[in-house]
Amino acid sequence: MSPFHLTRTLPEDATDAALRADVHRGLTGRPKTLPPKWFYDAHGSDLFEKITELPEYYPTRAEREILVARSGDIAAATRARTLVELGSGSSEKTRHLLDTLTDLHTYVPVDVSESALTQAGQALAAERPALDVHALIADFTAELTLPETPGPRLVAFLGGTIGNLLPVERAAFLASVRALLAPGDALLLGTDLVKDEEVLVRAYDDAAGVTAAFNKNVLTVINRELGADFEPAAFDHVAAWDAEHEWIEMRLRSRTAQTVKVPALDLAVDFEAGEELRTEVSAKFRHEGVRRELSAAGLDLAHWWTDDAGRFALSLSVVR
Ligand code: SAH
Ligand code: AVI
Repeated sequence: MSPFHLTRTLPEDATDAALRADVHRGLTGRPKTLPPKWFYDAHGSDLFEKITELPEYYPTRAEREILVARSGDIAAATRARTLVELGSGSSEKTRHLLDTLTDLHTYVPVDVSESALTQAGQALAAERPALDVHALIADFTAELTLPETPGPRLVAFLGGTIGNLLPVERAAFLASVRALLAPGDALLLGTDLVKDEEVLVRAYDDAAGVTAAFNKNVLTVINRELGADFEPAAFDHVAAWDAEHEWIEMRLRSRTAQTVKVPALDLAVDFEAGEELRTEVSAKFRHEGVRRELSAAGLDLAHWWTDDAGRFALSLSVVR
């Protein structure tokens, strides 16, 4: 078994200042919103893995197709010795990269989900004796301190998770990633692409109701961590395409007029019948927009690869 290190940069107690501040701001604002990172407790991470296997949820399969086809090109272009993966989750698709990056010495998965990180990190360390696995429990939107590891570094941000950040957050995030990179380092970015509205909405409102359960899980997290009395059955799952912003919005729509108490924040939140709480945006991209956003952060788009059906893209930027 190779070394497995786990470093925590987030407070152990999830009722930390960040959750309290996010929930207070989000539930007292108009419209009401919550940031998507709070979906991912152990149950939320399991539900996300189930989503990746749904017939309607194409992004995981499309991105895997690109990784299978292009990992060799990525290895040749980067010669990475350290792979840092932001929002690594189960690290399932990453295995294609780990198999192909022949110079790889260290893997640094970074995630807010301790359960996903520990499960994936320990399994990889056990399976790959030559790989040093240094898992980091951290928020990738905050300032990241990476462990000292050999370069060149490849930072991977897969799954289209960048689309879960709002445009201003994306710009700040890409600039902070750029600041982590030295000459010879690279960024591999997965982006879901704009496509037919019906295909998109079905991917976020599946027939089996797994995405609805994932969406409502954020209420369970707030109930557990902040003593709130959200009744998940009193909300409907909504997935809607916003054509102006080119993003899917996930929302929870209150079925009735109701008041929810959040004792840890000394807060009572009124919902009107039909009022919607936005829980996630999932932006869809175009080639030119990705190039522009990378360039604004000081990163040049060197390669753009899509799956055969043109549903999803991986882009590679190498710092000169
Ligand atoms: N990369 C995997 C998982 C995507 S799901 C894939 O492509 O399938 C998104 C992952 O990002 C989850 O594991 C979630 O816990 C993590 N995540 C979401 N917001 C985060 C944040 N702000 N900081 C760190 N990890 C985050
Ligand atoms: C993690 N992220 C890229 C997923 C997405 O597609 O935006 C999260 C998700 N939300 C609903 N289904 C999947």
